[in-house]
Amino acid sequence: MTTATKKLPEPTAQPAATKAMKANTVITELEHRRERARQGGGVKRVEAQHEKGKLTSRERIEVLLDPDSFEEYDMFVEHRCVNFGMADNKVPGDGCVTGHGTINGRLAFIYSQDFTVLGGSLSETNAQKICKILDMAMKVGAPVIGLLDSGGARIQEGVDALGGFAEIFQRNVLASGVVPQISVILGPCAGGAVYSPALTDFIIMTRGTSYMFVTGPDVVKTVTHEIVSQEDLGGADMHTHKTGVADLAYDNDIAALLQVRRLFNFLPLSNRSGVPVRPTPDPADRVEMSLNTLVPENANKAYNMKELLERVVDEGDFFEIQPDYAKNIIIGFGRMEGHTVGFVANQPMHMAGCLDIDASRKAARFIRFCDAFSIPLCTFVDVPGFMPGTNQEHNGVIKHGAKLLYAYAEATVPKVTVITRKAYGGAYDVMSSKHLRGDVNYAWPSAEIAVMGPKGAVEIVFRGKFKNEEEEQALIDDYRAKFASPFVAASRGFLDDIIRPQNTRWRICRSLSILRSKNISNPWKKHDNLPL
Ligand code: HXC
Repeated sequence: MTTATKKLPEPTAQPAATKAMKANTVITELEHRRERARQGGGVKRVEAQHEKGKLTSRERIEVLLDPDSFEEYDMFVEHRCVNFGMADNKVPGDGCVTGHGTINGRLAFIYSQDFTVLGGSLSETNAQKICKILDMAMKVGAPVIGLLDSGGARIQEGVDALGGFAEIFQRNVLASGVVPQISVILGPCAGGAVYSPALTDFIIMTRGTSYMFVTGPDVVKTVTHEIVSQEDLGGADMHTHKTGVADLAYDNDIAALLQVRRLFNFLPLSNRSGVPVRPTPDPADRVEMSLNTLVPENANKAYNMKELLERVVDEGDFFEIQPDYAKNIIIGFGRMEGHTVGFVANQPMHMAGCLDIDASRKAARFIRFCDAFSIPLCTFVDVPGFMPGTNQEHNGVIKHGAKLLYAYAEATVPKVTVITRKAYGGAYDVMSSKHLRGDVNYAWPSAEIAVMGPKGAVEIVFRGKFKNEEEEQALIDDYRAKFASPFVAASRGFLDDIIRPQNTRWRICRSLSILRSKNISNPWKKHDNLPL
């Protein structure tokens, strides 16, 4: 027999017992590694986390997601850094837990930074884990929820970590308007790290345990000589009351995560999925008699617009966004006949409901979110105009007010508007008027639509032409009779109907129902040039 034809020996078959032993070894190793990953930074650091009143990254996921729905990815990923003794400082998973699960049965992608592992700092590899989640969410069309608790870029890695951040930012931008993105800040979030949450749709913080700033108190002290605490520089109250950077603040992790579940229930999964629909026992034709007395007789007296919102939406379930910022305008989600609707409403209880810079920015961003995700808009109007004064003018109310106008004008979703009382001046135009493609525009009998309030109008038009207060009052009454009613606007067709307050819910429900098949689009463009 030649070499070429020489028969090679048969491979010896592995005995079944050896195979089983090997499999058992791998499974034991798997369990060991999983257990190691679950321990995070170890007992001491977990205790320290609990002592600060914070949950661990995995405990947070348990609160956020439906029981047993979490599937983890990349549990065995480790960093590749060898600087500063890092080769011997590895924890499987590398300080960030990622994967997907469900919230009330609906898919969500999650990442949760583990402060017990190197302070939750962002390494090249855990940035890759977060990017994988963002990429998956984009592929399948599902929201991304980030639970942030991190000392920022991993110092030992230098530019590798910085690059990781930028990879995340790029994906946040591409995902904007495609899938909802929610950032929950449950610990430190400092330096450039703040820009990922800032690029997402909603930011939720915890009081006393979370903060966000570009430069911390020490740097501030060195550069500007200001002495400020972390809380005062970038705590939850600061960002929900003063800057508007964060949308909502809660007292602890559990309260925050449970409210994220509630918010999530209102949101579409993606810009292609349509709004979620939740069956409701609340009849669409519910008549709400109490609304007939909501607006006071005296046009200068305030009333609480939130009462109207809560009496109109399904089961009184209104989820307000940014309740502590620019309180002169209310934004939030509710449902009508089970379908998610975005509500915008002037609030006469604060600054008489005037529009200003903060209110314009707040509402504009919300309207753009709703439009991006095909959530219909319902607007309640009671606005005496834009806020006058040097503060507003010098800080650019022209450009900021234009944002709100722009947002309403470009929105192609169904738009239903109800004027409850004042709709004066430019603010009448801006607040989802017929002229900005309002689909159905109603007014209550108490509506007053004019260039300005009767007193102001008379003082300008008839300046020096009335002899005493009585004559002035007569002119004011005359102006009010002419313009301070909905009839002039209705006679022009700028209002589709004047409705009784008690019928508001069913008139809106019916309008939204017929508008579900609305289909308009804006002219093609690469992108718009929103007045930033
Ligand atoms: C590596 C870090 C870390 C980081 C914290 N740790 N931050 N490791 N890189 N960025 C580690 C600590 O060494 C410590 O490890 C553990 O995490 C817990 O940190 P402590 O300081 O003990 O905790 P605490 O007292 O609660 O203070 C938390 C902190 C502080 C305020 C976040 O750690 C801190 O100031 N860290 C640095 C923050 C920072 O300047 N980051 C860079 C920002 S610039 P052990 O082993 O002891 O548990 C940035 C650029 C992004 O992020 C650019 C994007 C464009």
